[in-house]
Amino acid sequence: MFEARAIESDSKPVFYAELAEQLSSLLHGETDAIANAANSAALLFEMMPDLNWAGFYFLRDAQNGAGQELVLGPFQGKAACVRIAIGRGVCGAAVAKRETMRIEDVHAFADHIACDSASRSELVVPLIKDSRIIGVLDLDSPLPARFDTEDQAGVEKLAEVYLTASNI
Ligand code: SME
Repeated sequence: MFEARAIESDSKPVFYAELAEQLSSLLHGETDAIANAANSAALLFEMMPDLNWAGFYFLRDAQNGAGQELVLGPFQGKAACVRIAIGRGVCGAAVAKRETMRIEDVHAFADHIACDSASRSELVVPLIKDSRIIGVLDLDSPLPARFDTEDQAGVEKLAEVYLTASNI
């Protein structure tokens, strides 16, 4: 049985290096992309302080048959919006730009999609494997400016651990 170990460090780089090791050992030997997304969301939600939502959206064929859109994947937190068009919201912007979106105040981001009204800041990392974008890892916090550049670097590394382990 995997049991998450508390990380006692005030240093964010140390915290994320240890969390990446724990994630890697949690996913070790499993390649199913959905199972790994579910366990990744659970570990991040348990270990990272001050989150109200942690989860995945994956690119899928759009319901109207026109191209692709993001569809809700495994997550922890309140029930969330299921479909997000590319270019819409923070998640859709991360896909359109193929870059991490770090939003210190979601109320100041005009196109933010509020799934949980408690969310005040957000970090969305695009999931890119072999130059192919397959979705996003999305973290929400009830605290304004919860995520700094060290969190961004740390969570980008966690996304890589997920992508390396998963057959996707
Ligand atoms: N806030 C996101 C939507 C997803 S929820 O936060 C879970 C956005 O603006 O894309």
